[in-house]
Amino acid sequence: MRVVTPVPDSLDPARVPRHVAVVMDGNGRWAKRRGLKRTEGHAAGEEALFDTVEGALDIGLKWLTVYAFSTENWRRPLDEVRFLMRFNESLLLRRRDDLNERGVRVRFIGRRGGRVPSRVLRHIEDTEALTARNRRMTLTFAFNYGGRAELVDAVRTIAAEARARKLDPAKIDEKTISRHLYAPDMPDPDLLVRTSGEFRISNYLLWELAYAELVFTDALWPDFRRADLFEAISEYQRRERRFGAIDSD
Ligand code: IPE
Ligand code: IPE
Ligand code: MG
Repeated sequence: MRVVTPVPDSLDPARVPRHVAVVMDGNGRWAKRRGLKRTEGHAAGEEALFDTVEGALDIGLKWLTVYAFSTENWRRPLDEVRFLMRFNESLLLRRRDDLNERGVRVRFIGRRGGRVPSRVLRHIEDTEALTARNRRMTLTFAFNYGGRAELVDAVRTIAAEARARKLDPAKIDEKTISRHLYAPDMPDPDLLVRTSGEFRISNYLLWELAYAELVFTDALWPDFRRADLFEAISEYQRRERRFGAIDSD
């Protein structure tokens, strides 16, 4: 029998963050502890992801973004990189109808090209098109994503627009940059959760995380479940967000 964790009373439904970003880390260590191959840790992460998605839907979260493959992950051994490409592709194909039926809009941020196989890119585009009209929640996969690459890409487009005289350089402001990111309509994350006890950003959403609350948990990603998401959100709700200002009272 599957035991589904209810939403705890400690969680204030009126103050659920708008956007939660997750660094799904620790798959390799999870596998190693069990004497398994690293790739089996990635495979075991699928259940963690979909339990987290279920929990996110239960509490009415509107935006969930997960780090699936970074621009630095190409440095890994070829067989692990190949596994991750195939695994992400098969996960999409197996889950997209279910996500679609649940009203989830699936999107991708990251560089579309380079070493990403064209077949994977096609499935990404198909999935985005299939789910484009859904509004219950937006699940964004950061895939072949790097925060610096995103800023480089934004600057390139901005420079090209300036050269074509479509944009006055003197008028470039923070909004101009935000408008040129991979998902201009995506609100900045309110909360970043990273698993596996690492205290790093690892080139994730560098611009967007400027004022996010950071929650680090020791759970390795394959062990993460909706209860851990709820716990991270409870922690977020205990924080005082100031955005550089001071309390008025
Ligand atoms: C995160 O788990 C998944 C990806 C980076 C794709 P890791 O593979 O980084 O696992 P650890 O950090 O080595 O344990
Ligand atoms: C970040 O995890 C990338 C993903 C979770 C996809 P890494 O495991 O690659 O990060 P580092 O190398 O420990 O910083
Ligand atoms: Mg890692």
